[in-house]
Amino acid sequence: MCGIFGYVGTKNNASDLVLEGLRILEYRGYDSWGIAQLVDGVISVTKKAGRIPDGDISFKATTIALGHTRWATHGEVTDQNAHPHLDCTQKLAIIHNGIIENYDKIKVNLKKAGHKFLSETDTEVAIHLIEKNIKAGNPFREAVRSAFNEFAGLNAIIVMDAASKTFVAAKTGSPLVVGRGKGKENLIASDAPALINYTDTFHFVEDGELLEITQDSIRAFDQKTGQEKNLHWQKVDWKFASNDKGKYPHFMLKEIHEQPTIIETIVNQSIPSIEDLAETILKSYGTYLVACGTAAYAALAGTYLFSKIARRHVNYAVGSEFGYQLDFLKKGSLVIALSQSGETIDVIDAIKKAKEKGALVYALVNVLGSTLYRMADYKILLMAGAEKAVASTKAFTAKLAYLILLSYILSSQKEKGKRVLQKALSSTNRLLQNEISNIKQIAQKLVNKKHIYVIGRGLAYPIALEAALKIKEVSYIHAEGMASGELKHGPIALVEKGTPCIAFLPDDETHGANLAGAMEMSARGADIIGISFQPHEIFDYFIRVDDAREATIIPETVAAQLLAYYLAIEKGFDPDKPRNLAKSVVVK
Ligand code: M6R
Repeated sequence: MCGIFGYVGTKNNASDLVLEGLRILEYRGYDSWGIAQLVDGVISVTKKAGRIPDGDISFKATTIALGHTRWATHGEVTDQNAHPHLDCTQKLAIIHNGIIENYDKIKVNLKKAGHKFLSETDTEVAIHLIEKNIKAGNPFREAVRSAFNEFAGLNAIIVMDAASKTFVAAKTGSPLVVGRGKGKENLIASDAPALINYTDTFHFVEDGELLEITQDSIRAFDQKTGQEKNLHWQKVDWKFASNDKGKYPHFMLKEIHEQPTIIETIVNQSIPSIEDLAETILKSYGTYLVACGTAAYAALAGTYLFSKIARRHVNYAVGSEFGYQLDFLKKGSLVIALSQSGETIDVIDAIKKAKEKGALVYALVNVLGSTLYRMADYKILLMAGAEKAVASTKAFTAKLAYLILLSYILSSQKEKGKRVLQKALSSTNRLLQNEISNIKQIAQKLVNKKHIYVIGRGLAYPIALEAALKIKEVSYIHAEGMASGELKHGPIALVEKGTPCIAFLPDDETHGANLAGAMEMSARGADIIGISFQPHEIFDYFIRVDDAREATIIPETVAAQLLAYYLAIEKGFDPDKPRNLAKSVVVK
């Protein structure tokens, strides 16, 4: 949600650089965009509802500019509500991520003092309050600090001052990262990959920190006291990061195709950290998996893997529910948080609460330097590389691969775990080589369907849920995943002639019972799309997924991702940017 990019330096095409940065950040999801630039001492703003248009936008020469992609919270999606917002003097510009919960009270006072508001946003309140503080005699940095201390809620702001050509940034939530460019230039963004062309050295801004950024320096201060602090510079290895789609038309397809390489990387590189996690699990009083959305389905799959392979019980909760289930957490409990972005607010909140209870927090996270990465006591990086499509694909299968290995390591069968993942690799490669035209044809047959049901049992149950979520997210077809044993408890009432039903039928102990579920659907007229190791007479369509023991869930997922992707293409939607969705859900 809300991409942020700011440049101050000596290059005189700062607005173009900011536009390019915002384009890289488009994957975060947004509904409007805007850029503030300083030209001849005056701030001018270009902002619009909708997507950033293709091609060049003509900007005047400037060496300082600040941009934002907005995901609306307060106020509709309009040009006026898009960021940046200016103060009455037009000497200050602000961009903001988060919600200023007490904005209404502050706004009443500012209006009484004569400030003119042009938008319905909470953000605009902030810039007028800063203006008021400056008029009261405070220097710019102090004016921002004192205003920010008045805001309730979790927020990140960056303010540009025309007079001093300075940015001041402050945050209590939402990610911000600063980078030192080459020579006299500095940058700030919501995500490190947006700065990939400028630097590999970053400071990830901490909550409660205030930054002052000019072309010459970056300084950090304590937000509450104003005391200067040290910055913690970190080098980032960009080996797996890339901001372009390569030969693929969409990031989603590119990321689907990257999965074999990622699984191979995990098998070959990450064992010591997983062994460490396994030891921690064995020592803990209880283990809890917590995550949201797709990551939560990986966590759910983890409960099956732990039970089946490692014979261990783990608890599981989606982030937003975890707070209602943590009364029995104590010192010695272990919480494993799974997240692609490491910024999902419900996961961050959950681990804050877990830490208050004395639990140890392990993160399985894809983004280095993210909030979760920094907050966790221990972390394993997923090594899936930057995931740009809003719909999570490769981060999900990377999580599955780690959980499979972890389960095998817990049962002292590390080598077997690796062999099982190798099988998943072969099966996924075969699928990507041989099944795509088949999957495209199935997508053509399903394109006009209003509902799709997805069934699975055991390990395939979380995969059925994930398959349905992927279809919903990118094709906007209503899809419902369920345990096939639940069919008779209600959902089968909805089946009529031609209702599509995707059935995951791996070669495991669930096969017979799951097939029975598919038969019940078929007997009532459903069209069965069997995702299985072998064809069956009840299948109307068949996607072959070779067996890889418990890791069959990886190629099964890839089959479902491809089907979702081609359904989106058939319907003419952009699978990388589904409507209403943001890549990182950083507000409640
Ligand atoms: O970044 P996270 O893994 O924490 O994100 C969690 C969910 O918001 C995310 O998986 C979401 O469900 C995706 N849109 C799924 O494709």
